[in-house]
Amino acid sequence: MARSLGKRGKAGIGACLLGLALLLSACQPGPPEPSPRPSPGTPSSSPAPSSSSPAPPSSDAAPAPGEPVHFTAQGDIGVSTGAKKVLDVVAGLNPQLNLALGDFAYKAGLERQFCDMVTARLGEDFPYQLVTGNHESDGHDGDIEKFVQCLPNKLPGIQGEYGTQWRVDVPAQNPVVRFILVSPGIDFRDGPLDYSRDSERWRWTADAIDDAKSQNIPWTVVGMHTPCLSIGNYDCQAGQDFTNMLIEKKVDLVLSGHDHVYQRTHQLSTGGDCAELVPASFTSGCLADTDGSMVQGSGTVFATVGVGGVGLYNVHAEDPEMQYFASTSGKNQDPALGTLEVRATADELAARFVPADGYTFSDSFTVRRR
Ligand SMILES: [Fe+2]
Repeated sequence: MARSLGKRGKAGIGACLLGLALLLSACQPGPPEPSPRPSPGTPSSSPAPSSSSPAPPSSDAAPAPGEPVHFTAQGDIGVSTGAKKVLDVVAGLNPQLNLALGDFAYKAGLERQFCDMVTARLGEDFPYQLVTGNHESDGHDGDIEKFVQCLPNKLPGIQGEYGTQWRVDVPAQNPVVRFILVSPGIDFRDGPLDYSRDSERWRWTADAIDDAKSQNIPWTVVGMHTPCLSIGNYDCQAGQDFTNMLIEKKVDLVLSGHDHVYQRTHQLSTGGDCAELVPASFTSGCLADTDGSMVQGSGTVFATVGVGGVGLYNVHAEDPEMQYFASTSGKNQDPALGTLEVRATADELAARFVPADGYTFSDSFTVRRR
């Protein structure tokens, strides 16, 4: 499917802190009010102010975390029955936004058809947020510029170049998640973008992560089309140095597509017995936590969700990188199309794989804040 296939040749506390009014509304006995959920297409900004809303925290107070963030993510979609089944799952989950992790139509000229397929199921105003895959980055199998036009950004406060390299905080007020979307390891019309060490795009990414930490935004999620670790068909296309930078900076969750498998690592970290993550090998010292219940700051979880609708690749269980993975699914092992679903609060990031109709594979993990 992918044109580059074969390169490898193998296989309550925050709410209470808000102040008296929130104490009255959120902390008093009795059933809690359901958290406000934006209507489709309404950017997940702060809830509408009410007459009893407290004054905003003073500027010297740490920002109180906002409402929970609920999102889905998957890549490698196409326009076939599989894509529609996965979109139906997303629609049923009713998230605030979806990260589409590249490889959309797989054929030139189908941009409008793809966008119509999406909006027919999720609505014209739903934040179906794009980052390009290799099939549309150079215009060969569709054009990212056309996808960006028919599925434009819907989130307030976005920075950067939507579709290629952008970031946004959700909710816009008192954010819970900073999303950072980048495009290493794929060809554009003028060749690949430069994400090498200390390049402009490397620094943009690193600064976005550092800034989220300095602002005490609870979670940092980085998304891109290409993975580094792979038990599917590829080698480290995201780049070894770039991937290690994400680990060193303790990004909580890194999402990708490209490999048409589902593969989710344990929490990985460097330092100590793992000087750095080295692709095509395994170092047990890089494993920070190997059960499904993890703690923030111990390492980074990488999830490839290249199962958004197109044909699956095999899982290559003999790959030495296999030992980094907690959960894998592919054509030859628990095959499933589907989506990752994530709910993030100020205290916990909880994720699970939700299979499309006809599939049974599942996975789940949580990361709690200290
Ligand atoms: Fe793909």
